[in-house]
Amino acid sequence: MNDKSPYIRHMRKEDIQEVYEIERKSFPYPFGEALITNIYFAAPELCFIIEYKREMVGFLLGGYTGVEKQTHILSIAVIENYRSLGFGKRVLLHFLERSSLLGFNSTKLEVNVDNEGAIKLYEETGFEIVSRIRKYYQDNSDAFLMVRNV
Ligand SMILES: CC(C)(COP(=O)(O)OP(=O)(O)OC[C@H]1O[C@@H](n2cnc3c(N)ncnc32)[C@H](O)[C@@H]1OP(=O)(O)O)[C@@H](O)C(=O)NCCC(=O)NCCS
Repeated sequence: MNDKSPYIRHMRKEDIQEVYEIERKSFPYPFGEALITNIYFAAPELCFIIEYKREMVGFLLGGYTGVEKQTHILSIAVIENYRSLGFGKRVLLHFLERSSLLGFNSTKLEVNVDNEGAIKLYEETGFEIVSRIRKYYQDNSDAFLMVRNV
């Protein structure tokens, strides 16, 4: 590996501010810094950073659900200028591999029904739409609940 290869590592608490900056620029209703902090401390082993040329270019915040042996993707984003370069898929596949190694056998996520790019990425990596959650987002738009079984 050299400095120009994308590199995935565990998130650290020092990353919270920068993760928040990417989150803020990526979503109309971003998670706040306090919520990101809570998510991180609830499951640091499921939160990942993707670096490129030693800079953070994206992240994935994961967690657990109430359902036994199921993980949850709470947020995933890549800086706009670095999208469509395969980084999102890489960090997602890394998360899924770690989830499986930790003994989890399914992963769920919610995605805006209009977010075609993300839905395509999830379908490509084995997620299936299981239901539509009405008015899931603050602007009353709907989400798909997607699940992937190992
Ligand atoms: C969703 C997101 C994380 C994907 O990251 P990315 O690095 O751009 O995605 P990748 O380059 O790894 O794409 C992998 C595959 O996903 C699909 N995909 C990703 N973005 C897409 C888009 N805008 N349109 C169509 N397909 C897309 C493609 O199938 C792509 O494969 P291909 O390049 O071989 O066609 C990124 O676009 C992002 O940060 N979006 C804003 C935040 C967001 O919507 N997050 C998801 C919330 S549920």
